[in-house]
Amino acid sequence: MSDQSFMLVQLTDCHVSADPETDYRGCNPLRELRTLEALVQELKPDAIVLSGDVSEDGSAESYRHVADQVETWARPVAWLPGNHDERAVMEEALDRPGFIAGPVCQFGGWQVVLLDSAWHDRPEGELNDARLAPLDELQPDRPALVFVHHQPVAVNSPWIDKYPLIENHRLWQRLDSRTVRAVAFGHVHQVYEGSHNGIACLSAPSTVANSERDTPRFKLDQAGPGLRWFRLWPDGRWESGTRRA
Ligand SMILES: [Fe+2]
Ligand SMILES: [Fe+2]
Repeated sequence: MSDQSFMLVQLTDCHVSADPETDYRGCNPLRELRTLEALVQELKPDAIVLSGDVSEDGSAESYRHVADQVETWARPVAWLPGNHDERAVMEEALDRPGFIAGPVCQFGGWQVVLLDSAWHDRPEGELNDARLAPLDELQPDRPALVFVHHQPVAVNSPWIDKYPLIENHRLWQRLDSRTVRAVAFGHVHQVYEGSHNGIACLSAPSTVANSERDTPRFKLDQAGPGLRWFRLWPDGRWESGTRRA
């Protein structure tokens, strides 16, 4: 393999609170995140994407806890909010060197798009015309990878499929499979791999707590925290996979 590739690591659904001892589904978010250190160092990312629910309580302290950790692993760190985040607080707390909110990042010859599907006090996601506008900036002749917090397809888990990306056709009608190779998301706290309209649909496991797949209710799986990685080549080839601590 050529060494021209770009390694992107997706970390999602960290659910860290202001008090680092606050549990999430019986797990300690910051300690679970830190158990990924050896894996991240092995992958040697050129960039990290935080794909929402970085915080559980939307506090500035929670963002600082996560940022203090992940900036030791790689920069740039690109981020987008999830339904538990507070965008304004996040923006201020993550206003530090190497942290970027896009919405379009140029990484290794790829266009990496960060879409904000989160709304205050709403667990489901939605993309209106303004939130979709970054897709209009895409150059058709360069490969693209789109990140969004909420699942743009059902993942066969009723407990989380009741809070999807609603009106998802508005996203799909804007995506051209000749340019966009994959849509990557978080929110579902499990690994999902499928495709829609010829575009891969991939979730990352949470860095704190995941459910077994295809279950009617959240059922903690014992595999521990995880991440998704993407290896991107400038000619449009790509690979992706998940790893668990
Ligand atoms: Fe989450
Ligand atoms: Fe979420």
